[in-house]
Amino acid sequence: MKNIVLYKSKYGNTFHYASWIAEELNWELRDLSNFKKSEIKNYQNIIFGSGVYIGKQNKIKKILSWFKDKSIIIFASAGNNNVEKDINDIKINNFSEAQLNFHKFFYLPGGVDFTKIKGIYKIMLNIFRKMIEKKQNRTADEQAMLDGFINPINYVDKKHIEEIVSYAKKL
Ligand SMILES: Cc1cc2nc3c(=O)[nH]c(=O)nc-3n(C[C@H](O)[C@H](O)[C@H](O)COP(=O)(O)O)c2cc1C
Repeated sequence: MKNIVLYKSKYGNTFHYASWIAEELNWELRDLSNFKKSEIKNYQNIIFGSGVYIGKQNKIKKILSWFKDKSIIIFASAGNNNVEKDINDIKINNFSEAQLNFHKFFYLPGGVDFTKIKGIYKIMLNIFRKMIEKKQNRTADEQAMLDGFINPINYVDKKHIEEIVSYAKKL
């Protein structure tokens, strides 16, 4: 049986991680868009990763509905550099407790870069930006978001895949 790393990546952060993980494990690598539900039966182990947008992990609803009976490894990549509270928020916003117990979740730090965004996100973020710019006492998260418009931060690093790779090797 084969093993595969599936990913959905808007700006490349998740793609970097998915590629490194697939390379380390010698697993197949595929964009979720090119993968059909009917193919699940061909794979023994599956890893899925994607970015977090306005609190929601990209394509996670589809993944959780596809993998109700098959436990997989899921990783999220978002704007925090391994901040426990923020990782917890991602879990709460995207998974039930039962889903977190059934699947194995990992967090891999992505970054914050709003300089390349287009479309509806750009409009929404500009409204949000104006709101937080007016605030006198900004939280660290709000400040990080403002910085993301001017000084993009990127935490993507191959060293972050160690834990997920060693977990997958033991399957
Ligand atoms: C429009 C937009 C919204 C975002 N929303 C969040 C968010 O709610 N929480 C967060 O931690 N990071 C957020 N981020 C940061 C992304 O999750 C992070 O850059 C991620 O690594 C992107 O992965 P991808 O490039 O593979 O899609 C956002 C980024 C953009 C551009």
